[in-house]
Amino acid sequence: MTTLPEYLKECGADDELASIISLIGAQAAPIRDAFISNQNYADSTNSSGETQAEMDTWSDTHITNVLAASGLVREVASEERDDIVKLSESAKYSVVMDPLDGSSLIKVNLCVGTIVGIYEGSCMQAGKDLKAAFYVLYGPMTTLTVSVGRGVAIFAQDKDGVYQMLKNHVKIPEGNLYGSGGVRTEWLGKHAKFVNRIENEGAKNRYSGSFVADFHQILQYGGVYAYPPSEKQPNGKLRLVFEVNPIGFLAVQAGGAVSNGTKTTLDIVPEEVHQRTIVYVGSHGMIAKIEATE
Ligand code: AHG
Ligand code: MN
Ligand code: MN
Repeated sequence: MTTLPEYLKECGADDELASIISLIGAQAAPIRDAFISNQNYADSTNSSGETQAEMDTWSDTHITNVLAASGLVREVASEERDDIVKLSESAKYSVVMDPLDGSSLIKVNLCVGTIVGIYEGSCMQAGKDLKAAFYVLYGPMTTLTVSVGRGVAIFAQDKDGVYQMLKNHVKIPEGNLYGSGGVRTEWLGKHAKFVNRIENEGAKNRYSGSFVADFHQILQYGGVYAYPPSEKQPNGKLRLVFEVNPIGFLAVQAGGAVSNGTKTTLDIVPEEVHQRTIVYVGSHGMIAKIEATE
């Protein structure tokens, strides 16, 4: 079996890049341990105005401290912090992260995860310029799904904490699952038409409320994850830098696509670190259908 460090070396990732991926991956154990004593939802809100779970702030502080101590990271942009944190000025790479995605599911023990993107230079770049993206899922297994621009591979942690390869060359099939955020009665015309079309073509609804877990299913079974616009939230809910870019990069590396309904989100250079975007991510054919919907 191939381990994560062996895979990253085979892909030509340099030592710093491989070390950052392995280091964040290794935080799965302390993050899993922290769930039991951090079950509450705090009084605080994050920069997107959402109530923070104790685990949101715990994971954010923990990963940021580990990265600061490593000396390997220039900047960290996190969903849970207003501003970009400057760490080691001379380091080559910067990290963008959603330290805990799907946090409303913590108290019901459904699958949540950590989403990470790595850029050379600063954090505020287009998704297409990512040097690596990955996510760790805290499900029945702890898995790490990664791309360093050479396709996508999935690893699972063994009893010794080593990430062993489960699957290489992952390709999103042209499947028929869909999950859509938002409230159906608040969907705008284009999104409603699209969902109606794919349902008539046999698409089946599966949506958990954890982007990272819902995407992991789409990655392997095929279909589309969507968070559409509404009158109240014209740019949808998800954040371009921390959520949509890393997941979109992985989707494209797996032969799929990501779009705001009109064009790829991977070309957007962020103007504001917490900016939101409408997202459709998954099988190529599904993304072509939303882009073709008037
Ligand atoms: P986070 O937990 O990082 O704030 O992200 C939650 C996101 C995403 O994971 C999920 O798909 C979506 O919000 C769920 O929103 P709804 O409850 O509106 O469906
Ligand atoms: Mn999130
Ligand atoms: Mn989050």
